[in-house]
Amino acid sequence: MMLLVILSFLSIFSFTNTHAHHCSNDFLSEAKNRSLINITFCKRYTESNGVEVAIHLHENTRKIDIMVGAKLKEEEETGWLAWGLNPGEEARMIGTQALIGIKTKNKGLLKDTYNITGYTKLGCQLLPSPIDLNISNFKFIHITELEYHVILATIILPNQYDLSRLNQVWQVGINIGAVETKELKMHGKGLMNYDSSETINLRTGKGRGNRIHKSSKIRKVHGILNIIGWGVVLPIGVIIARNFREFPLPWLGWKKCHISCQTIGYLVGTTGWAVGIWLGKASKYYSFPKHGTYGLLIFAFATIQMLFFKLKPGESDKYRMYRNMFHHVVGYSLMIGICINILKGIHIIHLDYTSWKPTYLGIVSCLAFIFLVFEIVSWFKFLCDKFGLWILCAKCIPNKESNEKKGSKKDGKAQSQVQPSETPIRADN
Ligand code: HEM
Ligand code: HEM
Repeated sequence: MMLLVILSFLSIFSFTNTHAHHCSNDFLSEAKNRSLINITFCKRYTESNGVEVAIHLHENTRKIDIMVGAKLKEEEETGWLAWGLNPGEEARMIGTQALIGIKTKNKGLLKDTYNITGYTKLGCQLLPSPIDLNISNFKFIHITELEYHVILATIILPNQYDLSRLNQVWQVGINIGAVETKELKMHGKGLMNYDSSETINLRTGKGRGNRIHKSSKIRKVHGILNIIGWGVVLPIGVIIARNFREFPLPWLGWKKCHISCQTIGYLVGTTGWAVGIWLGKASKYYSFPKHGTYGLLIFAFATIQMLFFKLKPGESDKYRMYRNMFHHVVGYSLMIGICINILKGIHIIHLDYTSWKPTYLGIVSCLAFIFLVFEIVSWFKFLCDKFGLWILCAKCIPNKESNEKKGSKKDGKAQSQVQPSETPIRADN
């Protein structure tokens, strides 16, 4: 059963993306027209804002001609495109010697060189500065046919840059708030922006990013495990416990099924969470603190909920009531937290505009709908019992009587009716 669910999920969320592709034909022919005739390589980074890079290496002179292009968002009045080289050990933002072009509010085009330091990452102003690259023919233009903004330049690489291990970094951003200045504002905070660096072999064009794993499939496996474990199986277990115990659909097997769902959901979800922790560690230079904190809280509270299976005070114990209240409040809060974090995850990985978001929202809506229908039925019964709306629901009379019987059995006096919200706190929990 579980395997079936996992397989159907895997088929919906198919794995398609790879990090870099050959660049588009239009960009390639444009590059060839602009003196990069014998292009060494031309790549399109689909997963990082679709930036395209073409480089022609003149090996004898250590000279490279570069053309870097991207579609700066039409709907935004401003924007910037950056490309640079990092002389350090790894392809990362700090230390990058960058060439940056800025599209200003009144469609002006500015360009300059920038030295990106640790202070930039801390949020200090990023202003133009000289860099340690010998640059000529530096241009920032708009190519109307492609609807691309493009950086063109010729660079002579100093000896500290290894031609077979060159760290290139690129980025796009919006310059909100900056008017006709060369001060740069921060880029977005999604994977599209963080996966924008590569250590490349200029002779072959082969490269790899700065994370330990190459594959974006691991991220999707992380997402799928979390969606199935926390987002589907766990809520099904909650619905079973709430509605199949006594009313509206009494079912003897509810307890076994509830425990199985919660155990499977917890194990699958925890595996997904552990993969998330590993992914967080594998990408050294960036993190997603909010998503990570939510994840930690979900794991911690779900673990506490699981321990409650064992920690059960006696029926007459007054702590049993508090334990049950805690179990329910934490349980429902977990459901909301899980929903938020799954949507956050989908946003981080930029799958908002794919089938992922609608599929997940579809699943959540179905579960919420089922939950709501059961709640309405339970509350309807409660109101019938309490206010004697027998015309609407004649079958409630015996329930009222049985409630009274239960009450008098327990403490010798007639109790009020069983409220839907009280149902889970009953002694057979
Ligand atoms: C005002 C300008 C900028 C600010 C404030 C800024 C800030 C940041 C911050 C805070 C992070 C890391 C987030 C984290 O630790 O989770 C980051 C990551 C990154 N940024 Fe920037 N950035 C700026 C400009 C640039 C430019 C111009 C480039 C490209 C040349 C760039 C490329 C990157 C890359 C590739 C990452 C991923 C992590 C890494 O490689 O270090 N950034 N940026
Ligand atoms: C309740 C469900 C989820 C939990 C508990 C969870 C947990 C985590 C944790 C702990 C991290 C590490 C954060 C860091 O240190 O930076 C992480 C990263 C991540 N998660 Fe989730 N996650 C969940 C759902 C999702 C979903 C549904 C997706 C996408 C479909 C997703 C995509 C990602 C991505 C892309 C990363 C960053 C990986 C990287 O750094 O390379 N997550 N998650």
